[in-house]
Amino acid sequence: MKRKIAIIGTGYIGLITALGLSELGNKVICVDIDGEKISLLNQGISPIYEEGVSELLERNIKEKRIFFTKNFKEGVENSEIIFICVNTPSKDDGEVDLSQIVSSAKELAPYLKDRKIVSIKSTIPVGALSKIKEIFEKEGKKEKKDYEIAVVPEFLREGSAIKDFFNPSRIVIGAEDEEVVNILKELFLPLNSPIVITKPITAILIKYASNAFLAMRISFINEIANICEKFSADISEVIEGMKYDKRIGGEYLSPGIGFGGPCLGKDLIGLIKMAEKKGYEPDFLRAILEKNEHQVRYIVYKVKEELGDLLYDYTIGVWGLTFKPNTNDVRNSLSIKIINILKNDGAKIKAYDPKGMEEAKKIINDIEFCEDIYETAKESDLILILTRWEDFKNVDLLKLKSFLKRPVIIDGVNILDPKEVKTHGFIYKGVGR
Ligand SMILES: NC(=O)c1ccc[n+]([C@@H]2O[C@H](COP(=O)([O-])OP(=O)(O)OC[C@H]3O[C@@H](n4cnc5c(N)ncnc54)[C@H](O)[C@@H]3O)[C@@H](O)[C@H]2O)c1
Repeated sequence: MKRKIAIIGTGYIGLITALGLSELGNKVICVDIDGEKISLLNQGISPIYEEGVSELLERNIKEKRIFFTKNFKEGVENSEIIFICVNTPSKDDGEVDLSQIVSSAKELAPYLKDRKIVSIKSTIPVGALSKIKEIFEKEGKKEKKDYEIAVVPEFLREGSAIKDFFNPSRIVIGAEDEEVVNILKELFLPLNSPIVITKPITAILIKYASNAFLAMRISFINEIANICEKFSADISEVIEGMKYDKRIGGEYLSPGIGFGGPCLGKDLIGLIKMAEKKGYEPDFLRAILEKNEHQVRYIVYKVKEELGDLLYDYTIGVWGLTFKPNTNDVRNSLSIKIINILKNDGAKIKAYDPKGMEEAKKIINDIEFCEDIYETAKESDLILILTRWEDFKNVDLLKLKSFLKRPVIIDGVNILDPKEVKTHGFIYKGVGR
């Protein structure tokens, strides 16, 4: 059965969810407070870069299955299921900032009636659920009569978001009411994925535990990579020998600069804070975070090993600004973090990214944004690679070398072939090789 759906917050997750559900034939109204975003989307222009988004947007607008508005009344009154997809970033002290959750709940509350299903896709800490219910109660709305609540966390990955929407590893539905479970189950049934039905509180913890586990794998493999360097062993060979063990597998074992982006770090800190509030000392989780911060310093150290501690006389060509490839998202990008450290130590930075330049320009200045990778090399003392974009593999090494002052490549994401690079006369430093 096709449903009428409202998506509250048409950012990264909201837009992908909206496009996916409309493509499945449901009627979707997207509500966002950002007028500029709504206007762009209504013209069929996506504010985010993600493969397949533009095509889905064009098709579903044409088929009149998706609409964008700033009007909560229009969105909520006309829908049976409401997905809250606003952001839950970290506050300065690491606690989860619930301001978008609170404001969106207040905005939609007046229009709840006849057991509308409010389904939370945003990653929320445990306490947020009662906060949302409190807001609805204050508006005079009763659970079971005016609304039902569910937690349906999102697991898709930026960079392959549309593919992940249509091929999810699993759908987790956290809801107490059987009818709500059945409606949500039916909605996601066409995706043919395992569906885990659980309590809302468990759904919340599944999301946090999953992200903490992924962060752990990254910190773990970075630790092992750094140890490999001490023994002149190659981490890629170590991984090759590990990954066939079914208990281990090969996913999320890519050594590099650490985990950045809008989710892993903030969710790990969020989980740490949740545990601390309950009087538990999550030392293991703290170590994962510490290792990640250490890895950033380690990459900077690799640069300084080549150029010295003071970087005032040096220019560094940086490849990659987004937190991962195939996205234009630079939120909490460790590339930007590393650039800022190098800048503070005096370096001049010339940078290029295939898709992230416009977003990067909004959050970083005092660097030179270049047309392509070769432009970053002109008059630079070394090349520093910080995002694993496939495009970087196609570099013409001879051409690159002709522009550089010194033939040095620090490959923070192990994207180039060390042998080939060295054959072309470069000094090459990767991570764990
Ligand atoms: N980005 C990811 O890869 C990812 C993956 C899994 C889960 N999540 C979780 O999904 C949630 C959303 O993340 P995102 O990256 O899509 O965030 P985002 O910042 O891209 O999108 C949030 C959107 O909500 C809108 N908004 C803010 N306040 C609003 C309000 N009161 N009413 C309506 N709209 C409002 C903003 O204008 C923005 O468009 C977060 O909790 C995040 O942790 C994100």
